[in-house]
Amino acid sequence: MEPSRWPEVWREGRELYTRNAVPGTKVYGEALRSVGGVEYRGWDPWRSKLAALLLQGPPAELLAAPSSALYLGAAHGTTASHLSDLWPAASIYAVEKAPSSFAHLLALARRRSNLLPILADAQLPERYRADVGEIDFLYQDVAQRDQVRIFRENAEASLRPGGRGLLMLKVRSVTQRKPAGAIVRESRTALERAGLAVQGEWTLGPFSKEHVALAVRR
Ligand SMILES: C[S@@+](CC[C@H](N)C(=O)[O-])C[C@H]1O[C@@H](n2cnc3c(N)ncnc32)[C@H](O)[C@@H]1O
Repeated sequence: MEPSRWPEVWREGRELYTRNAVPGTKVYGEALRSVGGVEYRGWDPWRSKLAALLLQGPPAELLAAPSSALYLGAAHGTTASHLSDLWPAASIYAVEKAPSSFAHLLALARRRSNLLPILADAQLPERYRADVGEIDFLYQDVAQRDQVRIFRENAEASLRPGGRGLLMLKVRSVTQRKPAGAIVRESRTALERAGLAVQGEWTLGPFSKEHVALAVRR
């Protein structure tokens, strides 16, 4: 097991791992590996777009530990569980609107004190902004038509000036009627107009052909 360029992410060949914050427990059927008395969880790029993005080689600061993060579209907590492993001292607020997924998230959070689930619609940040306060990092993966607006409004509500964000843009959810390149260009412009400087753009390789990851700084 070797350290990677991203803090607290470990590698064995092409495989990515995080240190399991709850040893002996799997979250989504991932592999567990014990090395030198430490247990690591495999981070599957077919299941987590963030793992797929790391395999595209983004810079180390992408995963620099924040004090607090807001995760929109946490679903069952697959990716959020790895952020929980990576950032033990952070408060990671995880918003999900589907009650069935939220039940899984809640069960996960019982064993991970840095994961703070919120049952809410990310289209309505005013409902949870007081609970979340000012955050350092915004992550979004909601696959909605208005996903850029949702990201902008949550950034305006909660992301501190200088804070970082990562938008997993599902291009085809925005519209089927324009070429993908045009949708990405328009999304970047909309983010920039909202004061979110786009600092990186990556496709996710073979793992998720419909998504483009956009890294921003407010
Ligand atoms: C692709 S899944 C997310 C997978 C997850 N990010 C992961 O990597 O483990 C998208 C999730 O976004 C949620 N979602 C969609 N629109 C939402 C909204 N407006 N507010 C909150 N959650 C939303 C869906 O219910 C679904 O669980």
